Amino acid sequence: MNITIKALAGVALIAATAGAQAADLDAGKAAFTKFTCATCHGADAKTPTLPTYPILAGQHQDYLTHALRAYKRGAAGAPSTANLRKNAVMGAMVAQLSNADMENIAAWLATLDGPLAVRK
Ligand code: HEC
Repeated sequence: MNITIKALAGVALIAATAGAQAADLDAGKAAFTKFTCATCHGADAKTPTLPTYPILAGQHQDYLTHALRAYKRGAAGAPSTANLRKNAVMGAMVAQLSNADMENIAAWLATLDGPLAVRK
């Protein structure tokens, strides 16, 4: 029993690691352009066209992925008890994105130099 649980945990860990490595940075950059994210957030993702548009460059990857998924849940009309963000603009933007798009965009944004995060 215990061995089975450890084996399953091992498989889950390998799957999670493989998932993290599967993010495609080039595809993330391409998707950021294709879906016109730069129109508001800036081509470098740190020079937004209005001060109310958040800086994304250098933000933590898991935070960005989480934010995009939360907008998607919000746009999909998930119950208000769910972990979601409701925003008309971003809700419309993420409705076009696949899970892979969100992973790839978040991974690419996290590699950019930006004023948000202090790198170790
Ligand atoms: C029309 C302008 C506009 C466009 C285009 C746009 N965004 Fe946004 N974005 C915003 C605004 C405004 C917010 C803040 C919304 C809020 O208050 O939650 C935001 C928030 C975000 C956040 C959350 C940031 C944080 O710090 O929590 C992410 C991530 C994001 N956008 C990514 C994207 C991506 C990826 C695209 C392209 C698919 C995109 N945005 C297109 C205006 C835009």
